[in-house]
Amino acid sequence: MIYVSPSLLSADFTNLEKEIKSCEESGADYLHLDIMDGHFVPNITFGPFIVEFCKKISKLPLDVHLMIEKPENYIEKFAKAGADIIVIHAESTVHIHRQIQLIKSLGIKAGIALNPATSVEFLDYIIDDLDLVLFMSVNPGFSGQSFIPSTLDKIDQFNIYYQDRLKEDFLIQVDGGVNDKTHKLLTERGVNMLVSGNYFFKHPNRKEAIRILKS
Ligand code: DX5
Ligand code: ZN
Repeated sequence: MIYVSPSLLSADFTNLEKEIKSCEESGADYLHLDIMDGHFVPNITFGPFIVEFCKKISKLPLDVHLMIEKPENYIEKFAKAGADIIVIHAESTVHIHRQIQLIKSLGIKAGIALNPATSVEFLDYIIDDLDLVLFMSVNPGFSGQSFIPSTLDKIDQFNIYYQDRLKEDFLIQVDGGVNDKTHKLLTERGVNMLVSGNYFFKHPNRKEAIRILKS
């Protein structure tokens, strides 16, 4: 099963409710919400308030990608706002293990995101506690960037190291430059959750975009 999680960063925010409905109607499995603080990444987006709004108007599970420094200060707020998955960055806090335990104690799936230059070995002592790993295939901060090819080597390395240790419903997510040209390279490597911003929202037929990503 391949899940598609459209990234609302590329949506028309003046029509957010309509855009979210369009994700539902097109067959999206999750909504990917990019939280940026202007410190961890050179862009600022939105906070728990918008997450709460999405929860109110949609039944799709919320996949919350925190690109913020010291996520420990906000995990509980995003949980309360309705996150179903919270992903924090390997590079964003010193006490990663503690934050994973915190997310799980709130009854939410916990994920770790790796920036393009971060090695999979970072996962050695936490992989058994995780529900999801997110491979960033662009430098986080903006939608519409080109896919970084070395992501594929990293996923191959991940499979060599960890494939036997993953629980059955483990999610392997890729975010950045996912489109009709890159998706197969990912899914043939076991990636089962594709985030798509520009490709999905700019496609003239969004249902078809999802069909292609899942094919
Ligand atoms: C980038 C974000 C992505 C972004 C993906 O920092 O995490 O979710 O919106 O956009 P595309 O699919 O256009 O690369
Ligand atoms: Zn993202």
